[in-house]
Amino acid sequence: MKPVKITDGVFSLRVNHFNRHLFDSLIPLPEGTSYNAYLVKGSEKTALLDSADPEKSATLFDFLRNEPKIDYVVSHHAEQDHSGSIPLVLEKYPQAKVVTNPKCKEFLMTHLHLPADKFIEVKDGETLSLGGKTLEFLYMPWVHWPETMGTYLREDKTLFSCDLFGSHLAAGELFSEPAVVYEPMKRYYAEIMMPFRSNIKAHLEKLAKYDIEFICPSHGPVHCDTKFIMDIYRDWAVGEPKSKALVAYISMHGSTYMLVNRLVSRLQEHGVCAEKINLDQFDEGRVAMALVDAATIVIGTPTVLTGPHPKTVYAAHLANLLRPKAKFVSVIGSFGWGGRAAETIAGLIPNLKAEVLKTVLVKGMPTEADLGQIDELAAQIAEKHKGLPPCGNKGCSA
Ligand code: FEO
Repeated sequence: MKPVKITDGVFSLRVNHFNRHLFDSLIPLPEGTSYNAYLVKGSEKTALLDSADPEKSATLFDFLRNEPKIDYVVSHHAEQDHSGSIPLVLEKYPQAKVVTNPKCKEFLMTHLHLPADKFIEVKDGETLSLGGKTLEFLYMPWVHWPETMGTYLREDKTLFSCDLFGSHLAAGELFSEPAVVYEPMKRYYAEIMMPFRSNIKAHLEKLAKYDIEFICPSHGPVHCDTKFIMDIYRDWAVGEPKSKALVAYISMHGSTYMLVNRLVSRLQEHGVCAEKINLDQFDEGRVAMALVDAATIVIGTPTVLTGPHPKTVYAAHLANLLRPKAKFVSVIGSFGWGGRAAETIAGLIPNLKAEVLKTVLVKGMPTEADLGQIDELAAQIAEKHKGLPPCGNKGCSA
């Protein structure tokens, strides 16, 4: 593998992992992922920015096989997919120092047992000259760990953004195409960044002061349409939720399915986007992506052993962890002889600062009167959505 030039003296060492299907034993990776290291070569010093997941360290060292000297290893994030090969890098380049912030240093010492004397600590805004290449370190905590930071390379107007603006996409092309990268980026944002929206808002404001021509994230392709990237992140993290209802459901004998179909149909008639997701084949990424924009979340569940179906419990718990912008929630579903499905779901989502709308739980197969209750819920959602921006996303039904 040969380093791929981005600008003079700046190279991508992208380690693709095409056949990785799950991240953190949690997040599905439909398009694999990549671990992006970068090399910045000044007239005097050379810096390696991040490394690679240890499972793929051989690819990283293939990139480095003709590199005689590395003076600095800049560590933006202690998570293994970025830092895991740093101990091996230090074996190959024993004179190299690890440049990072104090919190990341602490994590690298506890996670990788790196010795304290290998580090150079840097403050927010501090610079390091490589000779004609000036690295400016930017603290960007909580994207998505507390120690995360980025680096701005002044002469090349290039931001190394860590996980921010990343995508789980094993990509052959160096640069992103907006139409190709949009969905992987949204999936990545939804699964990893969404709980930290207020931090991201602050980072976007901080980055607005920089002239950025290239964004080099730690996963996925490099971005040169930086306005597009910043705009979509601003929309996801800061913008109003859209006039969209996520209807996440599971049905055992068809009753809940009837309610869900009626609701989706009526929402469409009211002009509300409705994304219906069957949870029987749970794709955490698809649910997370729908949560990015939805103003309303409706959980559809049958009753199992007096409570909601376990897969809807998982969906509600996931939504609670991801802290989406949703303003309204509702529970619909069915039961045979009793239960507390709605109360249980409501108790699982304390992080959602959402108004609870009409609940529709029916005994057995829905009657026309039950379906009329669903019609009322659809009208209530439509009324609540007045004034919200239209959805316009792929995958929605209106
Ligand atoms: Fe890409 Fe947070 O590790």
